[in-house]
Amino acid sequence: MIEADKLVKDYGPIRAVDNVSFKVEKGDVLGFLGPNGAGKSTSMKMITGFLRPTSGTARIGEIDVRENPIEAKKLFGYLPESGPLYEEMTVMEFLDFICSMRGICKKKDKTEKIQRVVEICHLEGVRNQPIDTLSKGFRQRVGMAQAVIHDPACLIMDEPTDGLDPNQKLEVRKFISSMAEEKAIILSTHILEEVEAMCNRVIIIANGKILVDETPENLRKRHPHFNAVRLKIRGEKGEVKEFLNGHSLVKEIVDESGQILVVPKNGENIDETLFQAAKDKNWQVTQIEKPHTGLEEVFANLTK
Ligand SMILES: Nc1ncnc2c1ncn2[C@@H]1O[C@H](COP(=O)(O)OP(=O)(O)OP(=O)(O)O)[C@@H](O)[C@H]1O
Ligand SMILES: [Mg+2]
Repeated sequence: MIEADKLVKDYGPIRAVDNVSFKVEKGDVLGFLGPNGAGKSTSMKMITGFLRPTSGTARIGEIDVRENPIEAKKLFGYLPESGPLYEEMTVMEFLDFICSMRGICKKKDKTEKIQRVVEICHLEGVRNQPIDTLSKGFRQRVGMAQAVIHDPACLIMDEPTDGLDPNQKLEVRKFISSMAEEKAIILSTHILEEVEAMCNRVIIIANGKILVDETPENLRKRHPHFNAVRLKIRGEKGEVKEFLNGHSLVKEIVDESGQILVVPKNGENIDETLFQAAKDKNWQVTQIEKPHTGLEEVFANLTK
């Protein structure tokens, strides 16, 4: 549905996007991650036809955005980074205008579509307020409303939850997940828990290049302590350490002031093995836990 094909963007001597290619199909929610200045927004602007690539192209539903931008634009909604909203219009005037631009002209259709997004994006209280008087989070909601008003097959959203309060963040995540089956979605974010909550695929980009393109599960497996187990053992630990150090499933053990972190080889699950060994050898285990291994450290290791 959405295809980036060898996209390159140079700004003078700076190569902001360097040969970026990927495909997103219906049912995919692709999380686009990367440090500030990595090239996420620039890639999205090229995919949506708002910025001319130095080379390469993008296709939306097989339509080349460079050759046929108007037809391509009918197929997607785009929430740009700090999107341009017409400041002097009220929210209702703006949504009415977007409908007209999208070719939704019949009064009944317009009213229905506007009503739908006003509800979804919780804009009831600011319907008649000029956009330049809205708070940052409400502007973001108006941006989201215009992106989905025509119920497009593809959605491209640059930091959709940026500036939203925690309740709205959750709402928007739910809303995006509810559309996941029906659409092809790309979203950029700096919030890694959002990736775990919404995305079935992750691309990490740095210095304009794709470093990783895989599922969040596989990305999590790259954590150095994936599936590690922390044991607190009463009494003498020498024998325990000796056993674990020599075990074929154990990569290393880390002594942590009174506790032992057992790191498995290849991120394998060693829970059963440890339970069995503790039982057989009568270790006095007083506490056992699996430390949280989120994507933060994986991201940091890949991009620092
Ligand atoms: N109009 C421009 N002129 C010159 N350089 C630009 C321009 N727009 C972007 N850049 C540069 O391109 C690079 C990529 O920027 P981009 O906005 O795509 O990053 P990003 O991944 O979206 O970052 P962020 O997480 O901060 O939003 C940066 O080095 C940026 O300074
Ligand atoms: Mg950006």
